Amino acid sequence: MKILISDKIDENALSYLKEQKIDVDYLPEITPEELLKSISTYDALILRSRTRVTKEVIESGINLKVIARAGTGLDNIDIKAAEQKNIKVINTPSANVTAVAELTLGLMISLFRKLGLAYTSMKEGLWLKKDLKGSELNGKTIGIIGFGRIGKKVSELLSVFGVEILIYDLQNSTCSLEELFTRSDLITIHVALTPVTRGFINKKLLSLMKPSAFLINISRGEVVDEENLYEALVNKRIAGCALDVFWQEPLSADSRFRKLDNVILTPHIGAATHEALKKASQSVAEDVVRALKGE
Ligand code: MLT
Repeated sequence: MKILISDKIDENALSYLKEQKIDVDYLPEITPEELLKSISTYDALILRSRTRVTKEVIESGINLKVIARAGTGLDNIDIKAAEQKNIKVINTPSANVTAVAELTLGLMISLFRKLGLAYTSMKEGLWLKKDLKGSELNGKTIGIIGFGRIGKKVSELLSVFGVEILIYDLQNSTCSLEELFTRSDLITIHVALTPVTRGFINKKLLSLMKPSAFLINISRGEVVDEENLYEALVNKRIAGCALDVFWQEPLSADSRFRKLDNVILTPHIGAATHEALKKASQSVAEDVVRALKGE
């Protein structure tokens, strides 16, 4: 059995795979062209978010039995093409939950307390104490869109802050999407990118937000309509937003979003903790071994 690991994973998982006497090629910098050329020799592919497993890759993977994503989102894998070839697709939906939920809380406080401006102005030699009056989370209404593992964890972490929580989810809503957008002081998005969620935070929903409200997107860029979000931010229709994910990653150096003063940007680091990487890598390594053994 031969496994290709095409993105960076934790060392312990690599050692585990070697202990299992599995032939592993660890090529975390492999290019799309090299992947396409070499994939036919592998039984399993382990990846994170950098590698795109296109239909072409899957069709060239004549020996592929498993595609395993160390992480949650499967939007970089052509699932349909994998299904058609009977290739198992595995992810690690629990490994990143704490990391993403904790960063969400950090971004909430950063938005309410203007930490972006506080930080950059101090670096610039300024003392903006008078301009940096923020708001407390306490007493606010927080809208959570998507109440899967991460949405639930966010709500659990929020339970000590004295907030009202509104939830919109296909199975578990406390109100309509319109009510959530109208009433929330901050809305945070925790849905997977699917044909249904692509672009679903649109102009109409954004127009319902209070001018004092914030938005956090830590799910996938394409869930929010880029043009309409930019317009809402540049015209100060909403107070601001925090984006960890983008329509195109890496975000271009000259992106118009980098120039907005009411935006906090982070480079898709929701799951980037030592703990989450370790958990995701170990879980995926064990699952791949099980799948290759037909378990
Ligand atoms: C995930 O889907 O696991 C997270 O967004 C982390 C990532 O893709 O890097």
